Amino acid sequence: MKIAICGAGTVGRGVTQILQDNQALITARTGKAIEITVVASRSVPTDEIFKDIAYTADIGSVCARQDVDVVVELMGGTTDAKVLIETALSAGKSVVTANKALIAEHGDALFALATKHEVALLYEAAVAGSIPIIKVIKESLAGNQVAWLAGIINGTANFILTEMAASGPTRTFDEVLQEAQTLGYAEADPTFDIEGIDAAHKLTILSALAFDQPLMLAHVQIEGISSLDSVDFKFARELGFKIKHLGIARCQNGQLEMAVHPSFVPATAILSQIDGVQNAVLVCGDAAGEILCAGAGAGAGPTGSAVVSDLIDLVQGTSSSGSLGGRSSALKALPVRPAAEVVSGYYLRISVEDQPGVMSAVTAILARRTISLDKILQEDIAPNRSFIVLVTDPIQHGVISDAINELQEMTSVIAPVQSIRVFR
Ligand SMILES: NC(=O)c1ccc[n+]([C@@H]2O[C@H](COP(=O)([O-])OP(=O)(O)OC[C@H]3O[C@@H](n4cnc5c(N)ncnc54)[C@H](OP(=O)(O)O)[C@@H]3O)[C@@H](O)[C@H]2O)c1
Repeated sequence: MKIAICGAGTVGRGVTQILQDNQALITARTGKAIEITVVASRSVPTDEIFKDIAYTADIGSVCARQDVDVVVELMGGTTDAKVLIETALSAGKSVVTANKALIAEHGDALFALATKHEVALLYEAAVAGSIPIIKVIKESLAGNQVAWLAGIINGTANFILTEMAASGPTRTFDEVLQEAQTLGYAEADPTFDIEGIDAAHKLTILSALAFDQPLMLAHVQIEGISSLDSVDFKFARELGFKIKHLGIARCQNGQLEMAVHPSFVPATAILSQIDGVQNAVLVCGDAAGEILCAGAGAGAGPTGSAVVSDLIDLVQGTSSSGSLGGRSSALKALPVRPAAEVVSGYYLRISVEDQPGVMSAVTAILARRTISLDKILQEDIAPNRSFIVLVTDPIQHGVISDAINELQEMTSVIAPVQSIRVFR
């Protein structure tokens, strides 16, 4: 099988390295060779591993070549990469990509094109790097109805949260973000990672696959991590939680929920053990129960490994052609549960002036809406000022939002109320 690598950056290098290092092993296992015909990229790749491979700056030209069977799109972005994939599929070539933004935003049309031309569009590397979560949902859990899934699917955000938890109140969010950038874990423009957009792209793909849905990025509730304060990590620890940035999708009573947000997770829960740049996805199937897949979510080797696994499926002829999960004819959009009706426990941190009756006024606002409390504590922050910290039992988002609005109107509440969902 002859392939074109389009994009000679981090992942392009990783794929090329694996195919060179493990060429004999892959050929022995599959009975066929995977050969790189050409590397196409904007600028001439200078890395040693490309030195014996033909190069072209004309990306589109690879789709017309007779000596290219599969186009591997590793450029990123949703413009040129989209044109490349459309051209390749229309030319009857299968495509492997790591591009989660493109799949989440334009996947439905691209999968339809792949189906029309009876070729495959594979994307294992688009979600959680080395973790074979696409295969697990698509193949291993194919006989299950998935009830829900929850994942730590952005390594940058997980690194920042892990560091903030470890450093206590001594470092701010901005300081830890700067460290992540220095270490190469965060882009110069970190918006996609810290505001939850990258995680929303991945959750869109996982939800579509798990619940036989079209890709519904617009219906994902997205909240990033930049509003977290170091004091929330202190209270999380005191209350027996860790703060994780989770992507959660759930199908309940025929309605779908999809959200990406910071979450209080019990410190003993399995997702709380996933630290640093690691990723993990917990999937609950009706027959299989809960399955945790964890590992490196990014980087040349881990992401390249996922791309190569798709190439091996293609060379062995084991990949389904066309659709997201090989079941495109069954895709039917479920109704999405309105955000106000989604149920969760909540951590609330309320900054108050110490006045007689403040605590009872706060609890009265919650009691009027039958919001019951699991934990409560009060801590002084300055003379005459303190935090009231609460963890509620599960309650609809609309109800807690109303309560927060009313709390905010109290004259003794002196700063915006911090609220973070609890995931159990
Ligand atoms: N890095 C990871 O760990 C990781 C993990 C999972 C998924 N991904 C996905 O994998 C894809 C590639 O990521 P990456 O980190 O390898 O990116 P990267 O290091 O920035 O490399 C991108 C490569 O594509 C080339 N390129 C970009 N736009 C192009 C265009 N319009 N025409 C021609 N060449 C173009 C770049 O050329 P220049 O050098 O000239 O700009 C560069 O060689 C993205 O979709 C990303 O989301 C990456």
